[in-house]
Amino acid sequence: MSILKVARLGHPVLRAGTRPLSPEEIAAPDLQRLIGDMIETMREYNGVGLAAVQVHDARRIAVLEVADNPRYPEKQAVPLSILINPKIEPLSEEQEEDWEGCLSVPDMRGLVPRYAKIGVQALSHKGEKLEFVAEGFHARVIQHELDHLNGKVYLDRMTDLSTLTHLQEYLRFWSEK
Ligand code: NI
Repeated sequence: MSILKVARLGHPVLRAGTRPLSPEEIAAPDLQRLIGDMIETMREYNGVGLAAVQVHDARRIAVLEVADNPRYPEKQAVPLSILINPKIEPLSEEQEEDWEGCLSVPDMRGLVPRYAKIGVQALSHKGEKLEFVAEGFHARVIQHELDHLNGKVYLDRMTDLSTLTHLQEYLRFWSEK
């Protein structure tokens, strides 16, 4: 497996959108290699999620995992998940604000409103149907990754840009720890 280069804000690939995968594409060895590389890249940079578009690939797929993450030490654990062609629907009117960062926007944090509870439909790395409900930080990470698949970044969702903060200042003034 390889650690891939992560596109940073300003690279047109982050705005270009993605295309859904066919069952044949899901079964192809090439896709399984991409998934392995995405997981390795996410872990290398202590991400909690990574969309293929962030590693310059237009396929509609994201990986996520939250486990003892030094960039998000206070967050609930999320098992390793691979979401292909994901769709979400809000299950609450309520949106919550919390801090987000992004490997494509290095060393920054900002407050972003997200639905507290969502329904998720996707295909697994084996092409099996997944359907589940996600809440809290888990729901947040999925909404963040789905935005990437639609050519958006968290900055587009911020309602108050005055909360945009360098990571060092976040840790100093705003972190819960
Ligand atoms: Ni991101």
